[in-house]
Amino acid sequence: MSQPVLSARSLAKTYLSGDRRIGVLSDASLEVLAGESVSIRGESGSGKSTLLNLLSGLDAPDAGAIEWGGAPPSPARRATFLGMVFQSFYLIPELNAAENVLMAARMIRAPGRTERARSAELLARVGLAERATHLPSQLSGGERQRVAVARALMNSPQLLLADEPTGNLDEHTGDAVIALLLDLCRETSTALVLVTHNAAHAQKTNRQLFLREGVLSHA
Ligand SMILES: Nc1ncnc2c1ncn2[C@@H]1O[C@H](COP(=O)(O)OP(=O)(O)O)[C@@H](O)[C@H]1O
Ligand SMILES: [Mg+2]
Repeated sequence: MSQPVLSARSLAKTYLSGDRRIGVLSDASLEVLAGESVSIRGESGSGKSTLLNLLSGLDAPDAGAIEWGGAPPSPARRATFLGMVFQSFYLIPELNAAENVLMAARMIRAPGRTERARSAELLARVGLAERATHLPSQLSGGERQRVAVARALMNSPQLLLADEPTGNLDEHTGDAVIALLLDLCRETSTALVLVTHNAAHAQKTNRQLFLREGVLSHA
């Protein structure tokens, strides 16, 4: 069997709040295979964003181990290994859509003609070919999230982490963004971890998990 793209074993995480310690994750384990899609649901405050922060290597667990394709996460690998999409898009307001997509390439090197062509191609793929020169403020929420999806895929990552990507979108727009995200990941064999509150969206992934009391289990 192929090496998992992502492996997390027995992750534990607590936060210190004043002099109180808040236990968020106690024993969370997860394996995601190449090209596989997995959804994670859980109550608000159950630790879904905390878990994604650990999986993305942006924060460190108190205990447990994470591997990206068999090796520990590292800042040097992040830009090529991982793409991320967030509820609030996080586009740079001063940059137009094409430049926002290119920001991902800039994490690796100064973009040239190849990167510009890829950015244009990705914007076309997410249905925004005509919007490349528009600023985020000139785009709707759904369009902004499409730009963010294009940016997340710019460096052809092996894994895409999405934290409630439809949380700020109306139902119809959210459905379209999820369909696009799943189609793109399938086309490019990118593994996907999708955190969502939406049961119908969760059902569309290969596997469904639930985060409860610090532990991940089958939904
Ligand atoms: N940086 C932090 N410092 C202290 N507590 C935090 C921090 N981040 C999250 N928490 C707490 O950890 C718990 C889980 O938060 P979070 O991972 O954001 O949950 P979810 O994404 O499932 O809504 C919550 O109780 C939250 O208040
Ligand atoms: Mg969250």
